[in-house]
Amino acid sequence: MITVIGNLKGGSGKSTVTFNLALWLIQAGKNVLVYDLDPQATLSDAVQVRQEENYQPTLSVLTHLKKPQSNHQEVLIDVGAANMAGMKEAASIADRIVVPVLPGQADIWSTQRFLNLIINDFKIKPLPQVLAFINRADTHIGIHESDEAEQALSSLPGIKVINSRLCQRVVYRRSFSEGLAVFELEPSNKAVAEFEQLAKQLYSQPNSKPKPKRKK
Ligand SMILES: Nc1ncnc2c1ncn2[C@@H]1O[C@H](COP(=O)(O)OP(=O)(O)OP(=O)(O)O)[C@@H](O)[C@H]1O
Ligand SMILES: [Mg+2]
Repeated sequence: MITVIGNLKGGSGKSTVTFNLALWLIQAGKNVLVYDLDPQATLSDAVQVRQEENYQPTLSVLTHLKKPQSNHQEVLIDVGAANMAGMKEAASIADRIVVPVLPGQADIWSTQRFLNLIINDFKIKPLPQVLAFINRADTHIGIHESDEAEQALSSLPGIKVINSRLCQRVVYRRSFSEGLAVFELEPSNKAVAEFEQLAKQLYSQPNSKPKPKRKK
């Protein structure tokens, strides 16, 4: 299955989610092909740190789409607005597009524009499924921005809202910068249960959580 993690809005968590999903799938025994189509190459940088640290399992990333991908069970593509040609190409081969959305009105508007781009401007047929979820949700009980954002997302035609959120957790930034998935760096962090719920909803499969090992 080809999954694009995309959004027009910068900083919504595309690279972080792609990286964590890729490692989650690999540790579940899947053969995964990962693309970083963003010229910023954030995902490639995290993968490079992982390689330098010799963390296992290894993860490699390609920067240009190749065909065919038939020998891989799962394909993940990280792409944003900095590469519109790449976004169109990725969307046209995607089975689905997963959209991380930050909880704010501007992010909802931007998601609406992203949908419009895919449906009307790119004129992709058949349309891939578009799935959205709230990333960096507030953990404070008195703040309802994420509920409101989720509701607003549900009202957008052509999008399915995934019923799992990733909350704002420092461990995402820390683990990514160390070349590790959240479940590798801090298996007992609340972020892990949240991430696994999201991943399972996306892939409906179990996963084990082995710790990363350094090569001797
Ligand atoms: N759930 C989260 N909690 C806390 N920080 C997060 C979370 N998700 C992502 N981040 C942080 O937000 C920042 C942006 O994330 P990321 O680089 O993955 O977004 P992006 O959509 O790929 O950005 P860009 O559009 O620049 O490619 C990073 O510093 C990342 O560590
Ligand atoms: Mg990115």
